Amino acid sequence: MTERLTPDATGLAQAAGLLKAGDLVAFPTETVYGLGGDARSDIAVARIFEAKGRPRFNPLIVHVPDIAAARRLAHFDDRAERVASAFWPGPLTLVLPLRAEAGLSALVTAELTSVAIRVPAHPVAQGLLRAFGGPVAAPSANPSGRVSPTRADHVMEGLSGRIAAVVDGGASAVGLESTILGLVGEARLLRPGGIPAEVLEACLGMPLLTGADPARPTAPGQLASHYAPGAAVRLGVTTPSSGAVWIGFGPDCRGAAINLSETGDLVEAAANLFHALREADRLAFGVIEVAPIPDHGLGRAINDRLRRAAAPR
Ligand code: TXA
Ligand code: MG
Repeated sequence: MTERLTPDATGLAQAAGLLKAGDLVAFPTETVYGLGGDARSDIAVARIFEAKGRPRFNPLIVHVPDIAAARRLAHFDDRAERVASAFWPGPLTLVLPLRAEAGLSALVTAELTSVAIRVPAHPVAQGLLRAFGGPVAAPSANPSGRVSPTRADHVMEGLSGRIAAVVDGGASAVGLESTILGLVGEARLLRPGGIPAEVLEACLGMPLLTGADPARPTAPGQLASHYAPGAAVRLGVTTPSSGAVWIGFGPDCRGAAINLSETGDLVEAAANLFHALREADRLAFGVIEVAPIPDHGLGRAINDRLRRAAAPR
């Protein structure tokens, strides 16, 4: 079911066509293989979380072919310009302030006001990004909690049957993920990786902070900027109270103001989730009630997000 594509013009055109259709394609980068989907499409990004079996909607890295494309998604200050021109394309990811007009799916950024961007150097990744012509969200192409893949065979072992295709570009040279440098506020090493921290410090001419930023906890949902509805949220509601806005799931929730998926499709529900919470908050006078969501597959990530929305604050 999962096609293995050649890393030539024919294979890349096929891969780009699948991405345009909202399907998932794994592809090589110099760090590890990425599991790519159209970063502007809620459904494609929801499919990424589903294929990986991720229990949470963590923000994903957005891949673009060059700095010009990156500047259309995020605001670059002098520091960002300096490290980007020194290390892109390459194994470096920058977390930068998101442009309001970037057009990315809210699922990619987990509704943060920042975005993680990478320009990979691998010629096959470059070829795919150019053939596709848009931003590609890509976590490592392995099931959640498993080791990152550095060969097409590793991708197949973990995800065969769950994704449309993998472009076989041989073994990844770096073999561990990109270094993530946070440049929202003070420069901070968010994840060690393919480019040593000392090398970044030399380029920036200053030491990097490390560890989580106490002012900006990295877990989405703890962040002040992370969206939580103003209305109170109650979960697992099968019989809504009068006056509450009811968010339904599945065909039995007739009368729901909003239905995450009429057919009970968890991918569709995930794609609609953030928009649904905002819309319900706009409609609600005080209370949002949400129908039970099955706690398997993507339902676990949906329920994780709903529990955060419902937590006392
Ligand atoms: O080498 C790599 O970086 C690979 C290849 C495929 O490019 N990608 C990768 O993606 O490792 P992923 O999704 O496994 O890692 C994304 C990391 C997560 O730790 C996430 O928390 C962080 O990036 N991240 C994404 N957006 C962020 C943001 N706005 N603020 C802070 N951290 C962010
Ligand atoms: Mg990973």
